[in-house]
Amino acid sequence: MTTPATKTAADAARIPPNPVTFEFVRDHPRVRSYIRTADASLEQIGYTEHGERHVGLVSRIAYNVLKRMGHPERECELAAIAGVLHDIGNAVNRDHHAQTGAVMAMQILNEFGMEDAEVLTVIAAIGNHHENDGDPVNAVAAALILADKSDVHRTRVRNPDMIRFDIHDRVNYAVEKSFLNVDEDRKHITLELTIDPNISHVMEYFEIFMTRMLASRKAAKFLGATLGLQVNGNRLV
Ligand SMILES: [Fe+2]
Ligand SMILES: [Fe+2]
Repeated sequence: MTTPATKTAADAARIPPNPVTFEFVRDHPRVRSYIRTADASLEQIGYTEHGERHVGLVSRIAYNVLKRMGHPERECELAAIAGVLHDIGNAVNRDHHAQTGAVMAMQILNEFGMEDAEVLTVIAAIGNHHENDGDPVNAVAAALILADKSDVHRTRVRNPDMIRFDIHDRVNYAVEKSFLNVDEDRKHITLELTIDPNISHVMEYFEIFMTRMLASRKAAKFLGATLGLQVNGNRLV
């Protein structure tokens, strides 16, 4: 086997910048294949969409939450990087995917040459993003929890025929619009939902998302903010 004397343009484009950027992580072929494989595994076991749409949105929201709360630009970028990588553990197993994904992300980010302190911030966020066994242990984790739990939307349902049978699909399908509104002056974060009550009653939302709301409230508190919920223009919490 011969070794090419010069690197291709694609190889050169993959030399990690220092510091490692959000765009580099998001666009790296390995990261993209991990995300797609994780999502494909979840599709096999009937879960809602957790692919590039979900992690891209979570990245943007996590970045914006910290930005609007006045955090340094680099910390906001780390939240975006955590957003890209947060669900890759699903490629191994849905159970404990937060912790598994954190270790996988550590390996990737170490290879990219990210400095240890930043790697630790990102993997602590990933390892704590799940509502049942995670806590906002740092600001990036808090932003990731808020962003992840706010992605409830019709487009995440893979098979609308199932909405009669599956409460998660039904609630997601009923949500026509979701927006995490950060009021930096009042230090108040509101999850604003537009729900079609003909598909799912608001009570169903609470039935399955109560733990998510509690995790989000804890995360908001970590950032020095309060959390509210608004459904169809009515403030509920
Ligand atoms: Fe997750
Ligand atoms: Fe997620």
